[in-house]
Amino acid sequence: MSTTETLFRPFSHKGLELKNRIVMAPMTRGMAPEGLPGAANAEYYRRRAEGEVGLILSEGTVIDRPASRNLPGIPFFHGAALEGWKQVIDTVHAAGGKMGPQIWHTGSTRAGEWEPEAPVESPSGLVGPGEPRGNTMTEADIEATIAAFGKAAGDAKRLGFDVAELHGAHGYLIDQFFWSGTNLRDDAWGGATIAERSRFAVEAVRAARAAVGPDFPLILRLSQWKQQDYTARLAATPQEMEQWLAPLVEAGVDIIHASQRRFWEPEFPEIDGEEGLNFAGWAKKITGQPTISVGSVGLSGEFLAAFGGQASEATPLDKLVRRMENEEFDLIAVGRALLSDADWVAKVRAGASDQLRGFNAADLAELV
Ligand SMILES: Cc1cc2nc3c(=O)[nH]c(=O)nc-3n(C[C@H](O)[C@H](O)[C@H](O)COP(=O)(O)O)c2cc1C
Repeated sequence: MSTTETLFRPFSHKGLELKNRIVMAPMTRGMAPEGLPGAANAEYYRRRAEGEVGLILSEGTVIDRPASRNLPGIPFFHGAALEGWKQVIDTVHAAGGKMGPQIWHTGSTRAGEWEPEAPVESPSGLVGPGEPRGNTMTEADIEATIAAFGKAAGDAKRLGFDVAELHGAHGYLIDQFFWSGTNLRDDAWGGATIAERSRFAVEAVRAARAAVGPDFPLILRLSQWKQQDYTARLAATPQEMEQWLAPLVEAGVDIIHASQRRFWEPEFPEIDGEEGLNFAGWAKKITGQPTISVGSVGLSGEFLAAFGGQASEATPLDKLVRRMENEEFDLIAVGRALLSDADWVAKVRAGASDQLRGFNAADLAELV
């Protein structure tokens, strides 16, 4: 039996002081009427702060572009919605929590039948390889979008959030620039290498950094996999990973949130074996920056199956504890276990493993 003490060491980086290593993963709930977070959303996050989550990352919340969201209940992070977000962060702080918004643009992805009022936009008017959808972004669109990412990060700081995360993963807009399957541009925003296709992300990070100043911590969420293709990879070798990540760190990323569906899967098993470093482990080794890992912590099934209604049972944390003890990564994000149980962290700290409930897909329907 492993002890989970290692998860409860404090974490400190660039003024971000956390009481433990557990991060609430960003999870879209689609429950902000008119895109405005209200009291119910604030209370949902308050329960996680009271439940001892070290750092709460908000659900993806979108920048000021005409078609930046793909579901009507996704909250805006601009305009009138900012008042609601101010209530959220004040409520979380009053409960002793720390929090950052996840700043997002859903690109050309679809999350159902709903269509935004304006046409969706993406680097090459594709949602996947060979799959046209929406507009190809003009130079002016790209510049306005980068500015909107910067503005949102600046607003996060101004409202009193502790950190801001840019969503560069999972096949959404920033990732559509990274991915050769959706970025066919032959101008300065595309190219044959991951370094060239990273320029949009680099500029978005630069804009965010310029807006928040040198001392406010910025997180960037990245993934190799895409919702359009789970097997896609942006970096097939550590060298390519360095070409991808180093310019982003140089642009101002403090913490890399390396998204996997299962945290124990090795990133380059051909190099360090089946028990080798995961994505967050390699990102930390390559950049020297702190990293967040994620993926099926404490659960038997992975998260995309959850949307199909699959429940997950609670599973032991030994594998996670071993990797944290080895300092492979610095923080661990927990998604569904915290969606279903606001007290998950407190229960883990108390050693009450028999009370861990797992994930119940019915909890997706309300803010429990
Ligand atoms: C309901 C739901 C909504 C999600 N929404 C987002 C999101 O807005 N942004 C994001 O980066 N990831 C999102 N994810 C992915 C989670 O952040 C996390 O990476 C994933 O659930 C794996 O963690 P888990 O296995 O602990 O649930 C979502 C996952 C779920 C279950």
